[in-house]
Amino acid sequence: MIRPRTPAVRSAAVAGHAPPCYIPPTCATDLGRVRMGITGMARRRQLYEGKAKVLFEGPEPGTLVQYFKDDASAGNGAKKGIITGKGVLNNRISEYLMMRLTEIGVPTHFMRRLNMREQLIREVEIIPLEIVVRNIAAGSLSTRLGIPEGTRLPRSIIEYYYKNDALNDPMVAEEHITAFGWASTQDMDDIVSLTLRVNDFLTGLFLGVGISLVDFKLEFGRLWEEDDMRVVLADEISPDNCRLWDTKTNEKMDKDRFRRDMGRVEEAYQEVARRLGILPEAGNNDMKGPEAMQ
Ligand SMILES: Nc1ncnc2c1ncn2[C@@H]1O[C@H](COP(=O)(O)OP(=O)(O)O)[C@@H](O)[C@H]1O
Ligand SMILES: [Mg+2]
Repeated sequence: MIRPRTPAVRSAAVAGHAPPCYIPPTCATDLGRVRMGITGMARRRQLYEGKAKVLFEGPEPGTLVQYFKDDASAGNGAKKGIITGKGVLNNRISEYLMMRLTEIGVPTHFMRRLNMREQLIREVEIIPLEIVVRNIAAGSLSTRLGIPEGTRLPRSIIEYYYKNDALNDPMVAEEHITAFGWASTQDMDDIVSLTLRVNDFLTGLFLGVGISLVDFKLEFGRLWEEDDMRVVLADEISPDNCRLWDTKTNEKMDKDRFRRDMGRVEEAYQEVARRLGILPEAGNNDMKGPEAMQ
C-alpha cells in the first residue's frame, strides 16, 4: 500500500530509538557516486559490511549494490566460517525468489542482478525488525517452548526480533515495536499482510520442488518516492535465512547444516538452486569481488 508522507509515519522512522543506521551519515551524502578505475571497472564506495553481504553505493541515487559473500555466521556471529560458493548461490536464489514475488505483486527492493555476486537494489530505510514466519517447529521455537522439531504448527506463526547485534536480536512484541517507534501500526499492517502472502507463495513454490518451507526470516524497508512511502521487502531470501527440508526425507538443505556441523553445506545450497532450476550456468568460479574504495 502506498501512503503519503505524514508527520506520524515520518516521526516513527526517525524516533529516538532509531535503528543502527547502516550508512554512517558522512557516507550518506556521497551516495550515488561511482568512480571508474583504469580498467573501466566500477570501483564502488563501500557503505556497510555485514555478516553475509556488503553494500556499495549504486550507479544512481537511491540505488545500492548488494554483494554476497561466502562468509557464514551463526548465533549472531558466535560461530564463523566460509561456505565456498554460497554468495553466488544466494545471489541467484534471492534474485529468483524476489522476481517471482514481484510477479505476484509483492513490492521488493530488487532491481536486477549485475553479476555472479552482486545485485542492484533500491536503497530503503530498513525497519530494524527480523520478521520470522514458522510453519513447522524448529530451532529456537523448539528449544524455548519444548515443541519437538518437525511438529507441524496449528497455523503459521509470525515472530518479531529487534535487529540489533549488540543486544543479540531480542524477540519483541508489537507493543515494543510501536511504543519505541521502530515501526508504526500501519507499517505493521503492511508487514504482516506482505509476510503472509510471501509465506503462502513460497510454501507452494518450494513444495513444487520437493522442499518444505519450515520457517524463514524477512526484512522490510521504507521506500520513499517523492512524498509517498511504501513498505517493501528487502535484504535477501536464501538458505541462509530459510529452513528448507526435503519433503520426503526431511534432510536439511539450509544453514542449519553449518550451525550444527552437519557437513555438505554448499551441496545443500546447490541442490536448492538446482531444484529451482537456477544453478549458475558458469559454475561457482566467480569468486572475485569488486574493489572497494576506502
Ligand atoms: N534495500 C536495502 N537498503 C538498505 N539496506 C539494506 C537493503 N537491503 C538490505 N539492507 C541491509 O543491508 C545489510 C545486509 O548485509 P548483512 O550481511 O545481511 O548484514 P547484517 O550482518 O547486518 O545482517 C543488512 O543490515 C540489511 O538490513
Ligand atoms: Mg543479514
